[in-house]
Amino acid sequence: MDIQLDGKVALVTGASSGLGERFAAALAESGARVALAARQLDKLDALRATIVKAGGAAFPIALDVTKVAEIEPAVERIEREFGPIDILINNSGVSVQKRFGDYTEADFDFMMDTNAKGALFVAQSVGRRMLARGQGRIINIASVAAVKVVPGIGAYGMTKAAVVQMTKGMAVEWGRRGVNVNAILPGYIETGMNRDYWATEGGKKLVSLLPRKRVGQPSDLDGLIVYLASDASHFVNGAIISADDGMAAA
Ligand SMILES: NC(=O)c1ccc[n+]([C@@H]2O[C@H](COP(=O)([O-])OP(=O)(O)OC[C@H]3O[C@@H](n4cnc5c(N)ncnc54)[C@H](OP(=O)(O)O)[C@@H]3O)[C@@H](O)[C@H]2O)c1
Repeated sequence: MDIQLDGKVALVTGASSGLGERFAAALAESGARVALAARQLDKLDALRATIVKAGGAAFPIALDVTKVAEIEPAVERIEREFGPIDILINNSGVSVQKRFGDYTEADFDFMMDTNAKGALFVAQSVGRRMLARGQGRIINIASVAAVKVVPGIGAYGMTKAAVVQMTKGMAVEWGRRGVNVNAILPGYIETGMNRDYWATEGGKKLVSLLPRKRVGQPSDLDGLIVYLASDASHFVNGAIISADDGMAAA
């Protein structure tokens, strides 16, 4: 089955690096025009150039998802410049590695504001427009840490558990009005968030404990993201999909 996204407009938050950068490229390769959002506009400009060179279309926009007042104007601008958003990849996220005994209030607020609050209000702004048009795909990027105890990122896991519950709630409220809301729970994927860690003794030990003793690459999620973004996934709503090489099941 060859899934194409021609004519669709996607918004990817956190498109300036790692998974978001790859999600944006994969959607563009499948024919979608992609709005690229994050704080680091220079990186988004570079990604736009790469996408355009490959024959795609992209629109970079600076957005800090923790600043809720900035979200609505940014979404409005994307739709004005690029057309109605059909697909939202709600991907911006941050992590602080600590044990529960060491987290500070600032650590918690930093993660909660970006991962849960930011995700909610981006989905709300885009979702309202999708609901008015009676169609849309929202894909929230949670984490294996939302459903499995992963030592050292416990409070991060709390924020991602919130994203899982948000996904289910939105799927129930919005699914009957044509907007499918699903979540992907990635396992360990090599990105800026963790790259340095895999070279350390602790990182190597962790890899040795994984079911298939390997860390994924962002492109390992290409098929899943394109499928969930497409019309082919019309019967999939409220799904919490692990893409973790078997980590949550182990
Ligand atoms: N890598 C993994 O193993 C893994 C596993 C499970 C889940 N995840 C999740 O996957 C998503 C992407 O992570 P990644 O591994 O690709 O990490 P990453 O390379 O560090 O990328 C994080 C992205 O989030 C953006 N971001 C952070 N704070 C933001 C804010 N306030 N407003 C807007 N954008 C913001 C960053 O852009 P700017 O700095 O330019 O704003 C960046 O583009 C996250 O939600 C993460 O929790 C990752």
